[in-house]
Amino acid sequence: MKKIIVANWKMNGSLLFLENYMTSLRTAFSATRNQIVICPPFPYLPALLTALEGSSIKLGAQNCHTATNGAFTGEVSANMLADLGCQAVIIGHSERRAMFGENDALVRDKASKVHDAGMKAILCIGESLETREAGFAIKSVSQQLHGSLPASATPENTYIAYEPIWAIGTGITASLDAISEMHLAIRQSTDSPFPLLYGGSVTEVNVKEILQLPNVDGVLVGGASLKPDSFQQILSS
Ligand code: PGA
Repeated sequence: MKKIIVANWKMNGSLLFLENYMTSLRTAFSATRNQIVICPPFPYLPALLTALEGSSIKLGAQNCHTATNGAFTGEVSANMLADLGCQAVIIGHSERRAMFGENDALVRDKASKVHDAGMKAILCIGESLETREAGFAIKSVSQQLHGSLPASATPENTYIAYEPIWAIGTGITASLDAISEMHLAIRQSTDSPFPLLYGGSVTEVNVKEILQLPNVDGVLVGGASLKPDSFQQILSS
C-alpha cells in the first residue's frame, strides 16, 4: 500500500548538496510508488521545486507565520509558501516548540493558516522522556493533539506526526509496541481517519517494520533523509 514519506532537512543543505541529492535520487524519485514530501529550508524551496519538475514528489516547508503579511521581519507566511509551490508545511515540530516557544494555541493557528492557503499541515506531537517515564505519554500526546488541531483539519489536509521527543535525532527509535500503542490511542481519540506518521530516528534499517504496523500510514524522516543512500532505501520501503 502507498505510504507517506516526509523528509525534514531541518537547517541543513546547500545548493551543491541539492544538486548532488537530485543526481543520487532522481531514479528513486521516479520509481517510488509512495507519496513523498521533501521539506528543505526556505531558501532552497524554489531550486528544489525546479529540480522536482515532472516527478510526483511534493514540496513542503518546515514552518510559517500566522499572519498573511505585515511587519514581521524575518517571517514567512503560509500564502507565500503556497505561492512558491509548496503543498505542505510541517507545523509544531518539537524543536520549534522547545526552542522557539511554540505552544498548542500558536501551532493550531499556524495549522489553520496552512489550510486556508490550500496546503496540508503536517502536525507534530510527541512526549518528553520525563512524561513517558512518569506514565503520562498517551494523556500528554492526546492533550497536545486536541490543543493543536484546528477546526479546519480534515484527513485530506492534515497528517498527524507522532514524534516522541526522546527519539528525535538520538538514534533511539521508539519500540514497535510503543509506536503501535500510541498510534492506536491517537486513532481512537479523533473522529476522523487522519493519516498518522511516526517520526524519531527512522532509518533504512527500521523503516519497513515501522511501516508495517497497524495505524502507521507513513514516516517523518530527519537525519536519514539527508543521506541519499539511506533515503533511497527508505523511499522504496
Ligand atoms: P530524526 O528527526 O529522523 O533525525 O530523528 C525526525 C524529525 O525531527 O522530524
